[in-house]
Amino acid sequence: MFVIRGGKPLQGEVQISGFKNAALPIIASTLLSKETCIIENVPLINDVFTLVDIMKEIGADANLSDDGVLTINAGAVEECNAIFDLTKRLRASYYLLGAGLGRFRKAVINYPGGCNIGTRPIDQHIKGFESLGANVTISHGTIACEAEALIGDHIYMDVVSIGATINVMLASVLAEGKTIIENPAKEPHIVDTANFLNSMGANIKGAGTDVIRIEGVKDLKGCIYTVIPDQIEAGTYMIAGAATGGDVLVKNIIPKHMEPVIAKLREAGVQVEEFDEAVRVTSTGKLKAIDVKTLPYPGFPTDLQQPITVMLTQAEGTSMITENIYEGRFKYIDELIKMGAEIKVDHRVAVVIGNGLLSGAKIEAMDLRAGAACVIAGLIASDETLIENIYHVDRGYEKVIEKLRALGADIERISAEPSRG
Ligand code: EPZ
Repeated sequence: MFVIRGGKPLQGEVQISGFKNAALPIIASTLLSKETCIIENVPLINDVFTLVDIMKEIGADANLSDDGVLTINAGAVEECNAIFDLTKRLRASYYLLGAGLGRFRKAVINYPGGCNIGTRPIDQHIKGFESLGANVTISHGTIACEAEALIGDHIYMDVVSIGATINVMLASVLAEGKTIIENPAKEPHIVDTANFLNSMGANIKGAGTDVIRIEGVKDLKGCIYTVIPDQIEAGTYMIAGAATGGDVLVKNIIPKHMEPVIAKLREAGVQVEEFDEAVRVTSTGKLKAIDVKTLPYPGFPTDLQQPITVMLTQAEGTSMITENIYEGRFKYIDELIKMGAEIKVDHRVAVVIGNGLLSGAKIEAMDLRAGAACVIAGLIASDETLIENIYHVDRGYEKVIEKLRALGADIERISAEPSRG
């Protein structure tokens, strides 16, 4: 559990870590080579520890240093057969399907789990693999992909999907001939993964645009690479600073990646100053109600929907939040209502009546970003808030206690007494 005594504006500096949703596919990509990759700026978070353990479990040699440098060599891996408990814990284990197909023409993993934010089909991943010539079978809770040969193809994504776009890239970099991905996801972590693969010797053009073109190559080498900063972690701290009427310098970011968040904060009356690798968020505490729609990049990211909804409970007026990506990403709102928030949810729309009245309560983190939202709610409420199941937060936010304390937050981690009955 976290115990937070809030009501104080966050003041100070926070250093952003490497991006979880880029580091995870990049780590899986190392399966495509027999040589050593050195990956810097890897965030020390549980999802990364789990994926590194999965890589070791299938035979890779890996070492993650305390300062976030991962040295990994998958040369000794003979097959990609990752059906053990670890892979159930992490949605990103599905990247082993694309990488395993690319390297061995065969891969088997558990059917992917992940945050409970709605049904999370993988039909587009399967469509991509089958277009390249793979047979995919789902049975006994596992997914098995196998191909005699992988031949490049022209693939049209029916849905903009980060996971499917990355998985098709992974499966096609060592395929024969050219693969074209239409309607791909364009998030910065797609570009980061493509840049990493190109550093290994792949031939990928157009990542981050509407069409990605991949020319298959014979094999991939080792490389040295630095993961981009985590724009979702950065956005979370920016929103926390604004929500508490604070003054926060968010360092080690790429301002371009923060544009959707900067635009919305400015619309809400928050002052945002941009520097080369930092932004400064200053709020007088007076926030204007705004409307937010989550969309694929460069739209407002779904992963920040929960944090900004909490901020908008402090705005003057009524805000409307439309969650266009996941139909189940409003579960945390019941926890905010326990704290006095006035929010009504109808399918994909939440209407927030800004009343500024969040009071401490015992609440529960439902998923990673819902956990971040609960923390922001606790930082706003002027008395004590207890947040259970904060393991969700540890999956994606490195050193969250230290970083928040450095901003003046009164937060501590206690072990949850075993719930009776
Ligand atoms: C990635 O999930 C992230 N997870 C999520 O981050 C993030 O919320 C999401 O992208 C959107 O930004 C990882 O990177 C491990 P999608 P992913 O495929 O790849 C539908 C976090 O908080 N879809 O882009 O699963 C899907 O239902 C986590 O860090 C299909 O219909 O997201 C959703 O509505 C949570 N068929 C939409 O596309 C498919 O085959 C976007 O999903 C795949 C997806």
